Amino acid sequence: MSTWRTSESVRRAFERQRLKMSWDYVECNPFAKVESSWNVNFLLKVIGYCSKAGSPVKKISYGSATRLPYPNNYFEAVITDPPYYDNIPYSDSSDFFYVILKRVLDQVYPELFSTPLTPKSEEIIIEPKRHNDNKVEAKRFYENKLTEAFKEILRVVKPNGITVIIFAHKSTEAWETIIKSLINSELILVASWPLHTEMRTRTVALGTASLLSTIYMANDAIYIFWQ
Ligand SMILES: C[S@@+](CC[C@H](N)C(=O)[O-])C[C@H]1O[C@@H](n2cnc3c(N)ncnc32)[C@H](O)[C@@H]1O
Repeated sequence: MSTWRTSESVRRAFERQRLKMSWDYVECNPFAKVESSWNVNFLLKVIGYCSKAGSPVKKISYGSATRLPYPNNYFEAVITDPPYYDNIPYSDSSDFFYVILKRVLDQVYPELFSTPLTPKSEEIIIEPKRHNDNKVEAKRFYENKLTEAFKEILRVVKPNGITVIIFAHKSTEAWETIIKSLINSELILVASWPLHTEMRTRTVALGTASLLSTIYMANDAIYIFWQ
């Protein structure tokens, strides 16, 4: 799914945050030293860092953020990076990898691969296609589900615990929506930090008004340690 650039180089399939429509594609040597290769050295670096992160991994649960499988007042802190409004079709993009992983890992993790494609109905994004092309309904769905997820946080975090929510979007509308969901959930915003998290040179940033910062918001406590 890699494609040609007019400069006669090859661009990665996921050059942007979604698969783009392409009329022609290139097969390149996955071990070649080009942008669209597997970049094995980079992968080794990631595995190296992750293996130092402390083991064993305590627990990873799979499910919707609107129904957390934990009792009330369970966590000291919740740190979350909820979906960015209408920016990224996460599950559609995941299907690209899911169909390959399903073939390999179906027997190992049957509970993770029980559906033909990734589940879509609970996904908290703005996708009018899933609401008969009704944008207002799609927006309402996002706001309601996000509120439900924030309420779940309020339920599972201890009364003196902290919550950090990471969010980024260029539009005021998206910010209005997330703030509305926060207010409706009764989480109380006590601090926020804009951090430069994006590379100026990444593809979507070239020649466009793109995001450079991400905002970190803290609820229910004044201090948060995150740089
Ligand atoms: C901004 S991304 C988080 C990316 C993550 N911080 C990372 O670095 O990979 C938002 C994530 O929320 C997930 N998501 C969407 N709806 C969800 C739901 N109902 N419950 C849990 N996660 C959901 C999306 O699949 C996506 O992976």
